[in-house]
Amino acid sequence: MKNEILRCKCVDMSVDGQGIARAGDLVVFVKGMIKGEEADVKIIAEKKNYSFGIIDKLIVASPHRVTSDCPIAYKCGGCDYRHIDYRYQLELKKGVLINTFPDLNVHDIEACDDPYYYRNKIQIPCADHKMGFYRKFSNDIVEFDDCLIESKIANEMIKDLKALLLNTKKERYIRHVLIKVGKMTGEVMLAFIVNSFDVDLSEATTFMTSKYPMIRSVIMNLNDKKTNVILGDEERVLFGEDHIYDEFDGIKVRLSLKSFYQVNHAQMLKLYHLAKTLSNVDENKDVLDLYCGIGTISMYMSRFARHVTGVEIVKQAIENANDNAKMNDISNVDFVLADAGKDMDKYIKGKDIVILDPPRKGVSKELIESLKKNQTRKIVYVSCNPATLARDLELFKDTYKLNDIYPVDMFPYTIHTECVTSLDLK
Ligand SMILES: C[S@@+](CC[C@H](N)C(=O)[O-])C[C@H]1O[C@@H](n2cnc3c(N)ncnc32)[C@H](O)[C@@H]1O
Repeated sequence: MKNEILRCKCVDMSVDGQGIARAGDLVVFVKGMIKGEEADVKIIAEKKNYSFGIIDKLIVASPHRVTSDCPIAYKCGGCDYRHIDYRYQLELKKGVLINTFPDLNVHDIEACDDPYYYRNKIQIPCADHKMGFYRKFSNDIVEFDDCLIESKIANEMIKDLKALLLNTKKERYIRHVLIKVGKMTGEVMLAFIVNSFDVDLSEATTFMTSKYPMIRSVIMNLNDKKTNVILGDEERVLFGEDHIYDEFDGIKVRLSLKSFYQVNHAQMLKLYHLAKTLSNVDENKDVLDLYCGIGTISMYMSRFARHVTGVEIVKQAIENANDNAKMNDISNVDFVLADAGKDMDKYIKGKDIVILDPPRKGVSKELIESLKKNQTRKIVYVSCNPATLARDLELFKDTYKLNDIYPVDMFPYTIHTECVTSLDLK
């Protein structure tokens, strides 16, 4: 019953980071409760087969419980695991993966050596005289001083941007602020996503670029549509170039505002190395890299393959990919601007290895059918969403042997896990 207090034991963790607790036959999802803990839990909502609760009194604490080091943890919607020591987070994430892939062998998660300040991209809304993250499931903005997973320079820049823009006439024009940082080069891109180009941001730009000489690009991006999509189509460069550079494993990359780039630079190479190892690539093999972004996996694989073709839907990313190949003198790659979910037969035909690295929604049924029809011998699937990976593997399994799951911790302190796996034609 609602408001009732029940003694519960936490037996597992849910995919969204809540403790799954039991009080007799009743299952209660409890935010902030850790597997193994016992607590008096106050029921806050009831469904037909389970309830939701909050910890009223912790009776037996997990030895892995730590005091959160973030003052806004659990308010901002970012980190879900700040109350759990890092090593145990990995065990819990592995447990969730074992539940998600009950028939496959799940390896230990590749840990992040430094799980602090790891993100190289931040995008935050601006409204109601605030700049910060959205509270989970809400449009309220939670401000922060020092986000422990964003880059240090982005934290500093946001303090300045708040002082420069909030409570001024310019504030109502700014929808989002986006900062990208090249972890190896130190180069920074600052973007103001505005609802009209009629705002003069020259003073803010001059201040920021003088204070932060590593800013190489300031962009104003227009988004006047009422949607959840952050970036609009039109851009104006306010300072420097429309791109920045970064580097990974000796490969230089150009990166535009709209182009995807893995957010955790240190883990990116581990991820690509795994993908390469699982692919069994060699110099006699042709590779198709679907959802290739700015061509990072393609260029990495090109060192080992005969040829790599990358396919990507974002125009700026394909432009970056072509520039990147040229800049790095890589001649055995080519890139195609196309929807990887449709009409891929002509690209798949004759390829020895196909790499899939789709966004969270996974791949289309049409693409899966096309891979089966063309009898692609080896598929490597890189996924940032275990749920859609599991769904897609189910569709492959009549034709392909499914292999082990190799997780990589790209997103420490959050519930998210990246996985790589390979499939062999039966
Ligand atoms: C998870 S990212 C991977 C990018 C790249 N493999 C990397 O490691 O940086 C997914 C990419 O798929 C692109 N994308 C999304 N939908 C697509 C589609 N239907 N066809 C092709 N590319 C798509 C996104 O723009 C993004 O660059």
